[in-house]
Amino acid sequence: MKGKFIVLEGPDRCGKSTQAKMLLNTLLEHGKDVLLTREPGGTDTAEKIRQIVLEPDLDVRPMAELFLYEASRAQHTQEKILPALEAGKIVICERYTMSTCAYQGYGRNIDLKMIETLNKIATLGLVPDLTLVFLMSDKYFTQRGEYLYSDRLEQEDISFRQKMRKGYIELTKKTKNAHLIDADKNIDVIQSEVVELLHKHKIID
Ligand code: TMP
Repeated sequence: MKGKFIVLEGPDRCGKSTQAKMLLNTLLEHGKDVLLTREPGGTDTAEKIRQIVLEPDLDVRPMAELFLYEASRAQHTQEKILPALEAGKIVICERYTMSTCAYQGYGRNIDLKMIETLNKIATLGLVPDLTLVFLMSDKYFTQRGEYLYSDRLEQEDISFRQKMRKGYIELTKKTKNAHLIDADKNIDVIQSEVVELLHKHKIID
């Protein structure tokens, strides 16, 4: 693949979107051709799937939830991510396969091996060149979300969030080119750690 695929991961409200925008600006300043996208969603069809899967008042069973995320991913990967990578772009994606392992695997106790198989099918085998996992202390989840709308996943209880958080730590350890970033730190400190990793992985000179 000519381009590079960077994925930002982490629990809800960990500051991923802010970091994604800062990362986009850094790469643009370095003259790179960049596409910023997200999961679930990223294309018209996948954004419709996003609405269903995150709607707080809908009854969505764990297995249906898993397949909705994978359906969104299959569409997004084929329609948008792979063509951009083939055109030599750097693709920044907020969430990808690790989210499904952390939320549906660790959070919902769905078999991880099965999720990994579905991930391979939905992605056509595409794996990130770099995964940045932002992890904050749980107290910030409540603090940062006090006045925010909560989607269906954000309404899950503390035990779900703890399992998913533990999942992120274990998944980062076993995933190639994945790095854990302490999201309790100041935004600029985090950004400079991200830039260091971009150099290390030869995404910028
Ligand atoms: P976002 O709010 O970060 O865009 O993500 C939407 C929610 O979907 C978030 O709570 C995480 C969840 N999610 C999963 O449970 N499984 C997945 O595979 C993905 C991509 C997201």
